[in-house]
Amino acid sequence: MHNNERGGMSKPKIVVTRRWPQEVEARLAEHFDAELNHDDVPLSEAELRDAFARADAVLPTVTDAIHDAVLDVEPLRARLIGNFGVGFNHIDLEAARAKGLLVTNTPEVLTEATADLAMALLLAAARRVGEGERHVRAGEWTGWRPTHMMGTQVSGKTLGLIGMGRIGRAVARRAHHGFGMRVLFYDPFPPPADVLEGLGAQHCASVEDVLRESDFVSLHCPASPENRHLMNTERLACMRAGAFLINTARGDIVDESALVEALASGGIAGAGLDVFEHEPRVSAGLLGADNVVLLPHLGSATVETRVAMGMRVLDNALAFFAGREPPDRVV
Ligand code: DGY
Repeated sequence: MHNNERGGMSKPKIVVTRRWPQEVEARLAEHFDAELNHDDVPLSEAELRDAFARADAVLPTVTDAIHDAVLDVEPLRARLIGNFGVGFNHIDLEAARAKGLLVTNTPEVLTEATADLAMALLLAAARRVGEGERHVRAGEWTGWRPTHMMGTQVSGKTLGLIGMGRIGRAVARRAHHGFGMRVLFYDPFPPPADVLEGLGAQHCASVEDVLRESDFVSLHCPASPENRHLMNTERLACMRAGAFLINTARGDIVDESALVEALASGGIAGAGLDVFEHEPRVSAGLLGADNVVLLPHLGSATVETRVAMGMRVLDNALAFFAGREPPDRVV
């Protein structure tokens, strides 16, 4: 609670930039003077600036670019950025820190849903699920035949993970125990042995070592400046000709034009993508390619997970305004 001008107590003012699951919005409205976005139209830069000037907390998500100009408002009322999402590459953390803003995110609650979707993309790309669906819907299917739409076997193959955080490990568990896959990984900060226990995953010395050995490569690293275009022409060329690239992390980890080229030339066999370099724009080269499965950033999109993400933001905001340390503080 805040002291208002008349000496009474008022609820902190929050601006929620997009539509959230109804039950979370209801909880937000209980605890805060909540400005919700019923139309779900993304805020413009000017509207975001205005939100930081008027509210005690702004609750954005991946579609809101919170760069320094957005925070450069005088006077700045906001003290908290409660991000709906685990990834925070759309927030300029340095600018937030410099302005005295605390930033929180929503780790853990989306791990399983995102790992499920990585496996869905892996299976869909290998087994030509998108192509097959389009074929049936177009009325082109003439019946079963021994050589029709043959794909690539998944069970027993080698999966290479770039990044072995929570989501990477959840994918390793599914691949190893569910599909009997050999799992390799590269992470500059590999988890300790006890965390890796039971995953059957082997650490490689470099990204290239993983790429050369893998039938499937799945990206689970953060979208840091160092990881921008981590999968460039040279690295894509390290992959096997029969291999598939899966991306449920962030679009700019992959050089999208280099990927289009690798898919078109047969440098790799296919890809499964949930995220894109210039999202929601998708390059024409990908839209026209049959050997890639494309999803609209659905990694965490289950009812259970999206509600849990919202509740996590709520918990962070409640802790912050009660003068406690928010559980998921990033800055
Ligand atoms: C996440 O949580 O990072 C999702 O990709 C949505 O931002």
